[in-house]
Amino acid sequence: MKSSQITVLFVVSEVYPLVKTGGLADVAGALPQALAPEGVRVVTLIPGYPSVLDTLSDVETVHTFEDLFDGPAQLLHGRANGLEIIAIDAPHLYRRPGSPYHGPDGKDWPDNAVRFGALSLVAAQIGAGQIAMLTPDVLHAHDWQGGLAGAYLRYGGFERRARTVMTVHNLAFQGLFPASVMNQLKLPPQAFSIEGVEFHGEVGFLKAGLALSDRITTVSPTYAAEIRTPEFGMGLDGLLRVRTERLSGILNGIDETVWNPATDPLIAANFDARRMAPRIANKAVLKRKMKLEATDTLLFGVISRLSWQKGLDMLVPVLPTLLATGAQLVVLGTGERALQQAFADAARIHNGRVGCVIGYDEELAHLIQAGADALLMPSRYEPCGLPQLCALRYGTLPIVSQVGGLADTVIDLNEMAIAEGAGTGVQFAPTAGMLEAAILRTTALWRNQRVWRRAQRNAMRTDVSWRRSAKRYAQLYRELLADRRK
Ligand code: ADP
Ligand code: GLC
Repeated sequence: MKSSQITVLFVVSEVYPLVKTGGLADVAGALPQALAPEGVRVVTLIPGYPSVLDTLSDVETVHTFEDLFDGPAQLLHGRANGLEIIAIDAPHLYRRPGSPYHGPDGKDWPDNAVRFGALSLVAAQIGAGQIAMLTPDVLHAHDWQGGLAGAYLRYGGFERRARTVMTVHNLAFQGLFPASVMNQLKLPPQAFSIEGVEFHGEVGFLKAGLALSDRITTVSPTYAAEIRTPEFGMGLDGLLRVRTERLSGILNGIDETVWNPATDPLIAANFDARRMAPRIANKAVLKRKMKLEATDTLLFGVISRLSWQKGLDMLVPVLPTLLATGAQLVVLGTGERALQQAFADAARIHNGRVGCVIGYDEELAHLIQAGADALLMPSRYEPCGLPQLCALRYGTLPIVSQVGGLADTVIDLNEMAIAEGAGTGVQFAPTAGMLEAAILRTTALWRNQRVWRRAQRNAMRTDVSWRRSAKRYAQLYRELLADRRK
């Protein structure tokens, strides 16, 4: 028997399939459903971007603000894809085309402080029990966009205060704004302090969340350890060391209904760990689509944002080695212009051996997972990473740098692991030299198909679901609430 139900308000700026720029959306889209069997009801508070308002069903207006940062706003309660959502419909803040964070010119919206200040303020008011329809036990903010929720709650003079959790999905994005936004944000002057929202003379949304939340989590145990160090701490390691007792790492999972090779409608042939033969058909279709030679050779895949974090610039100089082994490469990604160009050039120069699609393409991502033999993720840092989890599920061996969630989810096929019949992929230190060595090691493993097949089966049997982690979050919420009762 489960003890009484807990109500949690997720405060987040992306939720798959309503709006997505990265893995945060996948997490926010899947974790609530995994928490339901643990006795946790999640309601998700999200800005009312056009795509959010277009997708909500069973919509009901539950609150009206005459003035939310210089314009009227409504809270719309609705459902989408099995999720319970409250969208902030504030046309002056959110009804804009394109990305949630920047305009068509690629520059951040100039009023982002207020746009996400509003998200945080509304969260705090709900957490304080001021909005009739919902009184959550816990406010759970994700990344910097919800970072000020704890500050509004702390400095708002409320009688009731929900407990607060701040989850870091990426410490690089901190929501830093000049001190002058303090006036616009309607926070009292005393909030601009070392204990509050101030960070090196600026207002730091994420810093505020880290300083003021009851608990901090991040998305893997290794990243939780890494961010306490200057090397990975992005200037926040000092604060995180002070708050070490409050910080923990809980691994992400993936939505097993979206990523299931046995039922996936986006791939050419379905398969599972017991019947892997149809996998070959996916490889053939993928190769045709990417105009690769049909030779039976090791096929590496990449599905990624093309940014410094993901380390793919290290792959470019190593490409000649990869091709010299006879292997092929497919790349699906968008991001930095120079990297897009580098991979597009490689596809042109190595016509038939390297394929490249610049863009965001969910269907192709599924086909790569089902048809490539190995998935490369040479990230310099990786809070968790999701493609390696999908790869495990599809029997595509992840070749990953040994950082963050990559270190926590892939078992290296070293000598001992092979001898024991264990191992699911390859790990390496995040340098170009070690990436090159890892590619050579992968090629050698590929030549031993008995070992490779065993690793594929191990990979496909790995539990990459949300089940274990949902239990951890539920336990964290329960501990927090028990603390209050003490
Ligand atoms: P991040 O959020 O840092 O980009 P994650 O590994 O957490 O990294 O999540 C990335 C998500 O985006 C995964 O679901 C991955 O499959 C998807 N993805 C990344 N790039 C592309 C792309 N070009 N096309 C389709 N899906 C992509
Ligand atoms: C961030 C991280 C990624 C993580 C995702 C979801 O975008 O870069 O590693 O998987 O958040 O938590």
